[in-house]
Amino acid sequence: MRKKLVAGNWKMHGSVVENKALLDALVAALGQADAAACIVCAPFPYLAQVQSVLSGTGLAWGAQNMSQYAKGAYTGEVSAPMLLDFGCSHVIVGHSERRALYGEDDAAVAAKFAAALAAGLTPILCVGETLDERQAGVTETVIGRQLDAVLAVSGIGGMGRAVVAYEPVWAIGTGKTASPEQAQAVHAFIRDRLAVLDKAVAAALVIQYGGSVKAANAAELFSQPDIDGGLIGGASLVADEFIAICRAAQ
Ligand code: G3P
Repeated sequence: MRKKLVAGNWKMHGSVVENKALLDALVAALGQADAAACIVCAPFPYLAQVQSVLSGTGLAWGAQNMSQYAKGAYTGEVSAPMLLDFGCSHVIVGHSERRALYGEDDAAVAAKFAAALAAGLTPILCVGETLDERQAGVTETVIGRQLDAVLAVSGIGGMGRAVVAYEPVWAIGTGKTASPEQAQAVHAFIRDRLAVLDKAVAAALVIQYGGSVKAANAAELFSQPDIDGGLIGGASLVADEFIAICRAAQ
């Protein structure tokens, strides 16, 4: 039986003061929860603060991106070993905003995925289609391509050490959440596609949904058989919302 997982992606938001208030509220409400149930993914500069507040509680933390390289002359980049220094357990790779705004292609995402595994981090691999792609009927083609790029480098064994997050680009930050049926259909496609390679890995894989998840819609989404929690953006910045979403997954 898969345990549900909720991760909050703060994106480029926060301040030391705001983070402290949010983190204290999360610890008070969820601090005794299973650490794997709730993860906070803060911007890199705040990871030391997150680590100091969450260490010893039932909450885990991760990063939103990382370099595909372990060290070297890569100005402005952050490596997986650096994330380990700050106690990260997970790292988001291939978020649609990285793909669209920073030109991360499938090969770069696959390299980051492999580098995360090599360092001992759990990658949260983001896949998803644009509205144009959905309307053109190529959603499964796009997601299959994104999965295959990672499988070509890390294999189904690597996928067994990861989390996948289905994030339809048209639902991110728009308030236009995919219906439970739409999301379930894509989650089942992902699981079925990986089952061809390894039924046990596919059955155990945690597949999160992301894209305008709110306290009001989380329970219905998470009740779907192949939706194993969520990757939460805006709502993760609001303590009551994020707490309610995490509780919907417990
Ligand atoms: O990574 C999660 C994020 O892309 C979803 O954003 O604001 O639609 O919950 P949001």
